[in-house]
Amino acid sequence: MTITRRSILASGLALPALGLGQAASPSRTRVDAQIRDSSFDPWVEVHRTNLQHNVAEISRRVGSRPILAVIKNNGYGLGVVNAGQLLEPIPGIAGLAVVKLHEAMSLRDAGIRKPVLLMGPFDERNLADLIARDIMPMVYTPIGPVLDRISAARQKPTPLHVCIDTGIGRVGVPFRQAAPLVRDLANRASVQIAGVMMTFTEDPEFDVEQLSRFNTLCGSLDQGGVKLGRKHAASSFALFQRPDAFLDMVRPGMAVFGVYSEPEFRRLGTLDLRPAVSLKARVAYVKQLPKGDSAGYNRAYVAKDAVWLATLPVGHTDGLPREAVQGARVRINGALYPIVATVSASHCIVEVGAEQRVKIGDEATIFDWQEGSRPEDVNEGCKTSVYDLTMHLNPLLPRRVVS
Ligand SMILES: Cc1ncc(COP(=O)(O)O)c(C=O)c1O
Repeated sequence: MTITRRSILASGLALPALGLGQAASPSRTRVDAQIRDSSFDPWVEVHRTNLQHNVAEISRRVGSRPILAVIKNNGYGLGVVNAGQLLEPIPGIAGLAVVKLHEAMSLRDAGIRKPVLLMGPFDERNLADLIARDIMPMVYTPIGPVLDRISAARQKPTPLHVCIDTGIGRVGVPFRQAAPLVRDLANRASVQIAGVMMTFTEDPEFDVEQLSRFNTLCGSLDQGGVKLGRKHAASSFALFQRPDAFLDMVRPGMAVFGVYSEPEFRRLGTLDLRPAVSLKARVAYVKQLPKGDSAGYNRAYVAKDAVWLATLPVGHTDGLPREAVQGARVRINGALYPIVATVSASHCIVEVGAEQRVKIGDEATIFDWQEGSRPEDVNEGCKTSVYDLTMHLNPLLPRRVVS
């Protein structure tokens, strides 16, 4: 069965911002002053050059159109500030988009200067705060009078993006009612429409209809002299499937982080993506299980013959899916070994085989950029979504930026 992201995609975690190359949230940083991580504990590696490579690949694919990089949900696991700081210097990156207000604020706190788009909700007080930090809101309700008040106090117009719902039914002004709202906003001195946007359902047939709705709406507004700014719609899915939706700017997330959002995209050759995030730990324990002995809760694994097992201090609270026992493999000393028994909160168990090929302290890679241990490989083994792997990495795990 093909697992599409949309069958599984969760809203993602509201995660604290991470300092580049630092441990994690501010509270964790304080703890770190006294308590160090065990060298066995899992950690996340962030690969700067892979990130740069992916942006170059996307730029090539989209004819050098600007890229609004989506770094929501803790920067797809890298840490939102890590992602922002690594992406900002790349010329093809026109701006950064997040969903949580605190992520947008964290980017500004970290000194990010490029445009930041907040695609999530806010109240009036939040709006004033975010505009004061030069964060662009994504709007789709009759918010003009509020913007008049805020902009009057600042004495300059507020740049924003208008979200049009062409059929996803999530957020956005429904396309049939969009023209009056866009005209109302465009007519206000308090507003500068920097962009109009839509999101595909990623249903290949319906996407055609959605794009047609969007283009028809934008076309009639354009003709009426309404300045719409940049039109954008293409997430990672559309980078592969819909060159006609590249429009004025593209808006990918997962592809920027080097992961193919759908299994079939990996085989297409359209984009050469290199994962920019790895999950690693060190082997905590190695032992030989006699034939008939068991491992894991509920005796989930019973040794058919004498077998060597390795225990890794990585569990589902770190971001390793419980489903990993269905076929995910871990790389240790260059070889891949299956995860067996059960994934518990802080541990998993790896079947090494008849020989003792690993020892305590060996580095174990849950996923990285190598064939066989890419996030997509783990995803295939787990029969879950790559979005569940990277976005569910525990924000408290240390992040290490490597080249
Ligand atoms: C509005 C919006 N645009 C773009 C993206 C990026 O999607 P992807 O990670 O599939 O490229 C997302 C993420 O789901 C999104 O919600």
